[in-house]
Amino acid sequence: AKNISIGENGHVYFAGQDTIVLAQEYGTPLYLLDEEMIRSNCRVYKNAFKKHFGEGSCPLYASKANAFKRIFEIMSEEEMGIDVVSSGEIYTALQAGYDLKKAYFHSNNKTDKDISYAMDNNIGYFVADNIEEIKAIEREAEQRGIKQKLLLRLTPGIDPHTYEAVSTGKVDSKFGSAIETGQADEITRYTLNQSHIELAGFHCHVGSQVFAEDVFERAAVIMLKFSAEMKRKYGYITQQLDLGGGYGVRYVDSDPFMDVDKKVSEVAAAITDSCNSLGIEMPEIHMEPGRSIVGAAGMTLYTVGTVKTIPGYKNYVSIDGGMPDNPRYALYKSSYTCLLANKMQEDCDFKCSIVGRCCESGDIIQENVMLPQSVTRGDLVAVCTTGAYNYSMASNYNRIPRPPIVMLCDGRSYVAVRRESMEDLCRNDL
Ligand code: LLP
Repeated sequence: AKNISIGENGHVYFAGQDTIVLAQEYGTPLYLLDEEMIRSNCRVYKNAFKKHFGEGSCPLYASKANAFKRIFEIMSEEEMGIDVVSSGEIYTALQAGYDLKKAYFHSNNKTDKDISYAMDNNIGYFVADNIEEIKAIEREAEQRGIKQKLLLRLTPGIDPHTYEAVSTGKVDSKFGSAIETGQADEITRYTLNQSHIELAGFHCHVGSQVFAEDVFERAAVIMLKFSAEMKRKYGYITQQLDLGGGYGVRYVDSDPFMDVDKKVSEVAAAITDSCNSLGIEMPEIHMEPGRSIVGAAGMTLYTVGTVKTIPGYKNYVSIDGGMPDNPRYALYKSSYTCLLANKMQEDCDFKCSIVGRCCESGDIIQENVMLPQSVTRGDLVAVCTTGAYNYSMASNYNRIPRPPIVMLCDGRSYVAVRRESMEDLCRNDL
């Protein structure tokens, strides 16, 4: 990534700062986040949307990728909308002073309590998944005497060719209502008959870490055809079309580069064509990028402990973190680029597995990594591209405290999330 470089001292530099110095100052394991890259990614999306979709259309940051107070302040300053999936994310955004007008509340199972909490805080939009939820939203809105805006989540029936755990747009998905089965039509008709709900449009999300060429174009076309049908059948005009998140990031050299402006322009061309041939107005377009906003802006630093060689079998390099701060290899066998951050001038001829400190064999950060032969206790490992779905999926497994998040900006660094303490671990224990 363009925010990683090698200094003359053989150290990895991240966002222009020496990782060895940062590790000394803040300790390890340590999450670093490049604030300037996060901001510039937001601007790339915002400008592309303005240019290709026009005013009113805007990107929504998918908070699930990485949610903590400071990031919501940044999203607020960058005038990004947000996608939230729980009362906890809403609470965090509110604590940061984020105005929920441009917040879209997702999830396939919002409790009555979630719905009421979101409405009490004037959430802009719900993205409703199913009829039960619409009934609950109608009830809560009626009690408050308001008209709640919402989008309906639909499944366009598309296979995004990514890993199964993050593929969500297929007909048999647990999310949304399928167009193919007629349930999308049914739920639209039902929603249009509610008196305390304003149907603002439709939503779909096909998957995450998507590189396949025309997935978003195909999804958009299916959604627009459905919109045209709803116009014909019920006279309903779609104001907003939200195509979800999913653009991939480059974890390893074999992953392609993504040019967001180009991708957005291609989706816009498909949408324009489709609207013209269907004879409908182009709705406001939204997307919900998470990974592509924060992924490459993150790096995790660890200190090497044990180096173990099992002659004739394999080598292990153990680090002071692992699946509690990054469960993605354990869950999805995700690829990462791992560097020995203090020895970048040495050749990498030692093949090893980088493993964590938890009591299970699946606690692996990456296998078949090449590091310098001299790797030893006290060395520093940098795992790149950990800005998305690392901190947000972190746990206290084995009662290991979560690492802090240190933000890097203009050659400065500051703590945005404090390192958890031992006391934090027992905070709720009675
Ligand atoms: N919108 C919706 C409705 C979503 O479900 C998601 C991700 C996004 C937006 C953001 O997608 P992104 O732009 O970040 O790809 N834990 C997994 C990823 C799960 C993604 C779930 N939904 C991982 O670590 O790879």
